[in-house]
Amino acid sequence: MEKRKVQFDLTVYKIEDELSPEEAELLAQAVTARKRAYAPYSDFNVGAAVLLDNGTIVLGNNQENASYPSGLCAERVAIFSAGANYPYERIKMIAVSAASKNYKVTEPAGPCGNCRQAMAEYEQKQKKPIQILMRGESGPIYKCESINDLLPLAFNNSFLSDS
Ligand code: THU
Repeated sequence: MEKRKVQFDLTVYKIEDELSPEEAELLAQAVTARKRAYAPYSDFNVGAAVLLDNGTIVLGNNQENASYPSGLCAERVAIFSAGANYPYERIKMIAVSAASKNYKVTEPAGPCGNCRQAMAEYEQKQKKPIQILMRGESGPIYKCESINDLLPLAFNNSFLSDS
């Protein structure tokens, strides 16, 4: 028997002044996207900004539905849009911003499990880590160096064939 420890590096920025200009811009774009979210049922607004290697930023936000499961999270709206419109462009970084209409979100909201799986697919596809920045409406900013850090032992396409 062997016990393994799985660890990852989490960078915690106390304020946005600590971010690089590129990170600050991407997070600002995530806030812009968040303000356009359609979340009348949860009142929980999320925005995501995807930075491509060519410098393009693709935005997404949560889109809810009266039939609740038909809605989609901000991260998947953004990354699917990037995949649909820029299929050959690598993704460098994703920023996520979350805020509620009912209380002040002061801690970063980690992406849901489905979004982690969806984002991991693109990391696997491009064979290069995607960095992720997360923030609430205020408070600290978390940065992970790879989506894989958020989804250890992830299922991926390597399991779908024996080659
Ligand atoms: N939501 C996101 O957009 N991203 C996440 O990672 C977590 C949750 C949305 C889904 C739903 O519209 C609302 O937040 C409340 O769950």
